[in-house]
Amino acid sequence: MTGAAPGRVDIAVELEPYVARGLDRHLAAARPWFPHQYVPWGAGRDYDGPLDGEPWQPGQSALPQAVREALVVNLLTEDNLPSYHHEIARRFTQDGAWGTWVHRWTAEEDRHSHALRSYLTVTRAVDPVALEDARMRHLERGYRLEQPSLLHGIAYVTIQELATRISHRNTGLACGDPAGERLLARIAADENLHMVFYRDLCRHAVELVPDAFLQAFTEVARTFRMPGHGMPGFTGKAARMAVAGIYDLRCHHDQVLQPLVRVLDLLERGGLGPAGERARDALGRYLEDLNARATRMSAAQAAQAAQAAQDTQDTQRAQAAHAAQGAVQPAVRAAAGPATELP
Ligand SMILES: [Fe+2]
Ligand SMILES: [Fe+2]
Repeated sequence: MTGAAPGRVDIAVELEPYVARGLDRHLAAARPWFPHQYVPWGAGRDYDGPLDGEPWQPGQSALPQAVREALVVNLLTEDNLPSYHHEIARRFTQDGAWGTWVHRWTAEEDRHSHALRSYLTVTRAVDPVALEDARMRHLERGYRLEQPSLLHGIAYVTIQELATRISHRNTGLACGDPAGERLLARIAADENLHMVFYRDLCRHAVELVPDAFLQAFTEVARTFRMPGHGMPGFTGKAARMAVAGIYDLRCHHDQVLQPLVRVLDLLERGGLGPAGERARDALGRYLEDLNARATRMSAAQAAQAAQAAQDTQDTQRAQAAHAAQGAVQPAVRAAAGPATELP
């Protein structure tokens, strides 16, 4: 499998029985579903091109702008599956239960991009030409799993699956379309089971090699980036998703990192060596810092939203006053007589 230096634990070998057990549990829990049943095909019509249909126009969908951007981010993230499969198979190995899991996981993930692209295309939610251009550029760049070890890898995918679940779910809740919400809730349910599988491996890994796991988890948490970070325009889209409350630092702290750290009992863990203790304490400090940054960001976003609301009110008042003045002015002019008229 992966091989280990004499006297050292081969994590992949040690974890394999838990991979096999987790896989059985996953297969028993995973409910089959069919993407075609979640797409409102009746809302679709031909596009321009060979079928000579109607070209895409920005006003053809009522979805909020931030939701459309979130859907594009989520879809392009899912689209990069060939690279994820390659990287995860390389990091986790394809032997035994690990290989069975990696292929099963890949098959499940593959549904997500099919379903999301069909939904976006049928509902004309985004420009399909721009979407395809972005997909090409994104996949041509590929994706490298930046995690140096299997422990880092399982810590990363646990955080990432939960983050992706939250992002899909919140996008669905914000979209205002029952079909979109249903589809995104279904995809989020898959991501949740993936997270449960990986979180269980983390639980066993921290028992097996507590110091090494604490170090890996802390390094991953402190450097975490969403897998789609390399896509065109990611920073701006992520910022607008944050403002819309779809995924921001508050979500990342409250709904992703903190629950995982609590369930894995990382901050209360004793019996560690010096390296494990340093990592545990650093994780605690990182979470405190993240919480403080999330609070500052939420306050800044609330102030921005209040300012924007005030600006809108001021503009509406000014327009109303201007309109009223325009209605009074002719009456004044008429009363004053023609001599007061401007040339
Ligand atoms: Fe997915
Ligand atoms: Fe997933």
